[in-house]
Amino acid sequence: MAGKVRPVQQWPSPWPYDFPVAGAATEAKDKVDRLAVKDPAPPLPVTRRAVFASTIVGWGAFATAGGLGTLGTVRFLFPNVNFEPPQEFQTAPKTTFGAEAVDESWKESHGVWMVNTEGKLLAISTVCTHLGCTPNWLTGEKKFKCPCHGSGYYINGVNFEGPTPRPLERFRVYEDPITGNVVVDKNVKCQPEQGTCEGPDYFLPTA
Ligand code: FES
Repeated sequence: MAGKVRPVQQWPSPWPYDFPVAGAATEAKDKVDRLAVKDPAPPLPVTRRAVFASTIVGWGAFATAGGLGTLGTVRFLFPNVNFEPPQEFQTAPKTTFGAEAVDESWKESHGVWMVNTEGKLLAISTVCTHLGCTPNWLTGEKKFKCPCHGSGYYINGVNFEGPTPRPLERFRVYEDPITGNVVVDKNVKCQPEQGTCEGPDYFLPTA
């Protein structure tokens, strides 16, 4: 018959997930029921003793951490090793220092030359008074020569060439009555250009 409209097919749907799944809802509900906590444990009672104990433990931990931190800070202020050599040290008996000679035995270890010149034993600093380099003793030329800027010093430490403005410094010397050695005391020094080296503390007579 002309004009008859054919109805659109509604079922079965072309999409598989539209099909009803028999019993799926029931299965899901069973699963939820199984996983549900049937009988939850009652909450732990909070007693005054428990609160007190927790407070003690907390403050104890806090105090311990603070104490350890303070100890660490104090310990940090004190180095493990003192790398600086002693400022007062023994050398050798006075008679072992030859006349008009420089003994460099304590140059590296203590920064001191032992110099016997003009009948006096002196302890001369190895620090150049220009900018602090370490001069060399030139035996042939009988002078100290600084490699940095060329300052030169006589055997007694007095400057005579180069940019340095003043002589090498000197240290206190005395004889140890027990060992007989000459002792150098770097805690006490003098400056020749100021005339402070004339006292008996700064040389030992060798002549
Ligand atoms: S540091 Fe010795 S001459 Fe300059």
